[in-house]
Amino acid sequence: MNTKSHRRTFLKRGAVLGGGLLLLGPKAQPSRAAGAETNPAGGAASPANETLQTIRSLRTIHGNFLDQPLPESALQTILQASVRAANASNNQSYSIIVVKDRKRMSDVCGYQGGCLLVYCADLNRIQACAEALGHPYDPGTIENFVTATINTLLAAQTAVIVARSLGIDSLLTNGVHRGDMERHWTLLDLPRTHCFPVIALVLGYPTREPAFKKGRLTGAGVVHNEKYHRLTRKETDEIIREYDDMPRHLGLNEDWAAAGYKHYLDWFFEEWVGRNKQPPGETQMLRLLKRSGFVEPQKT
Ligand SMILES: Cc1cc2nc3c(=O)[nH]c(=O)nc-3n(C[C@H](O)[C@H](O)[C@H](O)COP(=O)(O)O)c2cc1C
Repeated sequence: MNTKSHRRTFLKRGAVLGGGLLLLGPKAQPSRAAGAETNPAGGAASPANETLQTIRSLRTIHGNFLDQPLPESALQTILQASVRAANASNNQSYSIIVVKDRKRMSDVCGYQGGCLLVYCADLNRIQACAEALGHPYDPGTIENFVTATINTLLAAQTAVIVARSLGIDSLLTNGVHRGDMERHWTLLDLPRTHCFPVIALVLGYPTREPAFKKGRLTGAGVVHNEKYHRLTRKETDEIIREYDDMPRHLGLNEDWAAAGYKHYLDWFFEEWVGRNKQPPGETQMLRLLKRSGFVEPQKT
């Protein structure tokens, strides 16, 4: 088995295999008669509306997008909606770098689209305000980093939804964390402290329509009622079986069986997990988080 080519082609192959509309699994499909769906927690059906329809239609485009810029008005709508996401203390502790140069897009995240939004956790803006007003303020804490990361991701996902509502597709990628991450501070001129790239969002138009929508687990172990429910062995086996059920499209790859694996998750743990394993010792992520001032500055 050639594992490298296997990895390279997993998404490409996945994208051309046919399948059904399985965003939330068979039980969660909209009822054609009533325009309603069962929620994953087994609660009451919710009526369909345009927001739900947009969310149900979300899909990732894997690989590069057409070399076609976004209309500026659409980009501005996406950005303005993105910053409407909830954010702690309303201090919007993020920055969004808009990249339109295709070469720069791929240098930053490995993909090219109509536009790239690089979402960074960033406390420089609020720090500048503190300095201007003469307030002592050090944003370099792990708490600030976690909170800023949450704010950043809520803004990014909001952009995904709004883009889709405008007929613009997307790819969220942590390609910004692959390779030499130092490049971001050079290519994007990021501040060296209190600014950290969290996620890249490629926006644009697909070169071809995906053949199917990815499914989701919705059963035991996903939504817990009142208290955390620890999976029984039977429930765990059922989850393994669900991943194996190809028409549900839960996996990243649909040729694991042909490659000799008994279960999709055998492929996942043997081929996918650990593919970007770094040498022992401090990872570049930790080193750069330390440099950014967000972790281990040992404040008094
Ligand atoms: C944090 C994060 C990183 C991701 N990175 C990549 C990536 O580098 N390449 C890619 O093709 N898809 C990437 N994805 C997209 C996921 O593979 C995709 O969301 C998932 O397979 C479900 O498919 P769907 O979004 O089409 O429903 C990423 C998604 C997230 C949230």
